[in-house]
Amino acid sequence: MTAADFVPQHAGLPGLRKAARDCQGCALYRFAGPTVFGEGRADADIVLLGEQPGDQEDRVGHPFIGPAGRLLDRALADAGIDRDQVYVTNAVKHFKFTERGKRRIHQQPNRTEVVACAPWFDAEIRAIGPRLVVCLGAVAAQSLLGPSFRITSHRGQFLPHAGYVVLPTVHPASVLRNPDRDRAYLAFVADLKCVAPRLAR
Ligand code: URA
Ligand code: SF4
Repeated sequence: MTAADFVPQHAGLPGLRKAARDCQGCALYRFAGPTVFGEGRADADIVLLGEQPGDQEDRVGHPFIGPAGRLLDRALADAGIDRDQVYVTNAVKHFKFTERGKRRIHQQPNRTEVVACAPWFDAEIRAIGPRLVVCLGAVAAQSLLGPSFRITSHRGQFLPHAGYVVLPTVHPASVLRNPDRDRAYLAFVADLKCVAPRLAR
């Protein structure tokens, strides 16, 4: 089974969001909180694709509201991108974790889970029709471009794909983990700063 068994045909974003609440396209729904669907402008030129909701997103049901989301907000502002103008979503829409005491530790989704969840993103893209998709990290980029895609060789490049352009960059959580956080942050903002000139062409 995949999410394809749950995606309604010809639905707009509200219909998709509603249907996604009941998705059982892979096993992750059993352990996580609510499906965290994408949010933002329904006619956005720019879609941001993350990996999967984190601990806080899983509790609240909204994407990118925890520490990585706060860093993303700051980076978007520093790059001159208005968060209200974009649509933000994740490659996998349930939180995957292991429990260590009271803490829930993020676990990277595997290829089966990424592939199972992809029909939701495909439907979001069909409904929105963006010009550019910014992939935040390897899981997002590989969900669109295949498992052999390497962010290290292509970050910051504009790659035409399926009727829009993909810009692969790092995940904001990797900036938070980086020992040289300031430098990693500036490099992340530098990638995002290329978006506006590209869309102005
Ligand atoms: N990390 C992600 O990739 N997505 C979120 O929504 C939050 C953290
Ligand atoms: Fe469905 Fe995706 Fe959740 Fe799996 S992670 S149950 S495919 S919404």
